[in-house]
Amino acid sequence: MLAYLRSFRQNPDDELLLPLNELFGASGPGYLEVLELGSGCGIVGIGFAQLYHNCHVLLTDLPEAMEILDCNIAQARPASGSKLSKATMNWDDGLPIAVAQGRYHLFLVSDCTYNSDSIPALVKTLHALNQKSPWASIVVSMKFRHSSENVFFDMMNDAGFQVTSEVRFPLPDRHRTAVGQELENVEIYIFRNTISLENIPSRSQNAHTSKQAEKTRKIPSS
Ligand SMILES: C[S@@+](CC[C@H](N)C(=O)[O-])C[C@H]1O[C@@H](n2cnc3c(N)ncnc32)[C@H](O)[C@@H]1O
Repeated sequence: MLAYLRSFRQNPDDELLLPLNELFGASGPGYLEVLELGSGCGIVGIGFAQLYHNCHVLLTDLPEAMEILDCNIAQARPASGSKLSKATMNWDDGLPIAVAQGRYHLFLVSDCTYNSDSIPALVKTLHALNQKSPWASIVVSMKFRHSSENVFFDMMNDAGFQVTSEVRFPLPDRHRTAVGQELENVEIYIFRNTISLENIPSRSQNAHTSKQAEKTRKIPSS
């Protein structure tokens, strides 16, 4: 996920990354409100705030992740005009006030779909967030471990979300490379709500809908 977001920062004209142009390009909102779900230790959300100026990234996870998030936020060096905060959010419990009162441009979901038991609550949470921020994009990264994870796409579809872009990054792995094994992929999907999409002016809509083909690319070296 971070490699994907970083590659946009480095190559803003790369056609595979165009869906993010709307957010980060000259016509973007200027200040970005970002919410990360299931932040874990916070590497993706913190990395985002360190890469991009003028954004607020709210990191969320279960209570047990708050201590490490506190620690890592304290060590972070956000880009100018950017800041980080955190909030407890359990997908099973509905939106906490600290999250519900925000309006967001972007939701980040990295490696949160491996447990199919928690997918219904995750999708329900994304749906609740989308009700308040219907124009937001949802960037989901996943490393497929089991076919049961496919239920995520069915549930997202049922909740009105459509994949508007997908990209595959081979995971760097020195061991696999050394022994000639195929590299594993991380898949990145951008979702938007189809009802919201109908209301987006055609120029923006084209930028999203014309990039639906599955693409494979290498993680750029930093
Ligand atoms: C594999 S970790 C991914 C962490 C981080 N996003 C990353 O890419 O390194 C999955 C995260 O989802 C969180 N999670 C799992 N179930 C959750 C729930 N019901 N509500 C909120 N977070 C949850 C876990 O606490 C964990 O931090």
